[in-house]
Amino acid sequence: MTQSTTTRGQAAPSEGGRPARAGRAEAVRFAATHTLPVLVRDLVGPHARLLRPEPGRPRWPAATLRALRARHGGAPVLLRGPTGPTLVLLDPLDLPRFHGAPPSELATYPPDKCRAPGAAPGPPTRDEDHDEDHDDLRERRREVNEIVLASGSPVHPSCGPFLAVIADEAGRLGTSHTLGLARARHLVTRAARRMVLGDTAAGDEELAGWLDRLDAGGDRGAQRRNRTAETLREKAGARIARYAAGAEPYTLVGRARRHPDPAGTLDPIGQALHWLRALDTVPATLLRTLLLLAAHPAEQDAVCAEARSGAAAKGELPRLRACVQETLRLYPVVPDLVRVTRTETEWRGVRHPAGTPVLLPALFHQRDPEHVPAADVFVPGRWTSPASREDLRMAPFGHGVGRCPGDRLGLLVVSAFCAELLRGHRVRDGRPALDPVGPLPAALDPRRIRLTITRR
Ligand code: HEM
Repeated sequence: MTQSTTTRGQAAPSEGGRPARAGRAEAVRFAATHTLPVLVRDLVGPHARLLRPEPGRPRWPAATLRALRARHGGAPVLLRGPTGPTLVLLDPLDLPRFHGAPPSELATYPPDKCRAPGAAPGPPTRDEDHDEDHDDLRERRREVNEIVLASGSPVHPSCGPFLAVIADEAGRLGTSHTLGLARARHLVTRAARRMVLGDTAAGDEELAGWLDRLDAGGDRGAQRRNRTAETLREKAGARIARYAAGAEPYTLVGRARRHPDPAGTLDPIGQALHWLRALDTVPATLLRTLLLLAAHPAEQDAVCAEARSGAAAKGELPRLRACVQETLRLYPVVPDLVRVTRTETEWRGVRHPAGTPVLLPALFHQRDPEHVPAADVFVPGRWTSPASREDLRMAPFGHGVGRCPGDRLGLLVVSAFCAELLRGHRVRDGRPALDPVGPLPAALDPRRIRLTITRR
């Protein structure tokens, strides 16, 4: 690939055209808690486990990032990791460029981004990122995703059948009980299999087990991991193909089946695997939303009223959706967004070679008290204006060309599950206990969340 073009940044230049570099101690602290290890996990093998953040621990040292930003006047900071330098964007002024750049300037990694907490990501390789055929294929797969997930329409065409599936699965919860991750995950993954593959897949716990093992594979030795992953992927692929052949037309594989694929390159089975994994992020967000609502009983009563209204039957739950978006602002599924420069790139007067990873610490920006009012407090009202979808400080689904094509579907599923639970029940005594006037903790490990559900 040629590197003849240089792309220019718009914000204030770095001093003297020299890159702002983090000190060694800052780099180590950052790498220990941030996405940097995620980028290199598959390359550094077993050491990656030492670098990976615990789900219950703060994922990012906000104070360190704020100090770095102040020290370098907001210039992007170059952090050295085991696989080379990563450019970290700490100033909100750099957000428009990150989100607005075309893939020919800043490439996204393969579509493996919204995944369950603790799951290992697919290994992005620089070859993939610099291969034009791969770009073309990604573009076509993105197109299929946009059609199947109906990313452009406010209501998914399968909204009706999906809401029926969710009502059915939520109904299995019974009346009074304690809700934790295992139970929430059981219900949501059943619903996910029905929405992606059809009703016959609902109880396929064997498939669920294979997917869990595939995701957990990041901890094993590379060679063994690859062999095991290949076998698991083959088994899961064959099972998915069997379901796909007979899936109802409203399912995601049913919708994908109708998309022309003359060259046979769109990999509908691989896409279905990705959709199942993406939906596996729902239980954690569902529990965190309910925990926040348990700490805000007045808001809970208001969303309960909304859930009981006639519009809820059509999936119209703006207040509940705002609560889910606010939960994702505070506890995003993807706390860091990553791109790779495709050409030599100039950022504030400093040139960076093609292939430089660029990291946007989205969680840091979403909770940045210097730029976001009441940054550490649950304020769902901030999501009620239509402009909030375009507010670049908030990126729980990303923005621009890299934006999550399943954003509306994800919001529909989480808010519909919440509505089903809250319509007839009260959620209280959430653990860990949250202070309703904040500041909220930096992280909420979904495995530790317990909720008491009682009949209203
Ligand atoms: C609450 C749930 C969800 C959240 C918070 C979420 C968040 C995200 C984020 C932050 C990205 C990366 C954006 C970027 O790099 O700028 C992403 C990408 C993606 N998501 Fe989601 N997502 C969710 C649900 C879903 C669902 C339900 C699906 C499909 C069934 C889905 C499919 C995808 C795909 C295919 C991509 C890759 C897009 C690309 O690289 O072109 N997501 N998601």
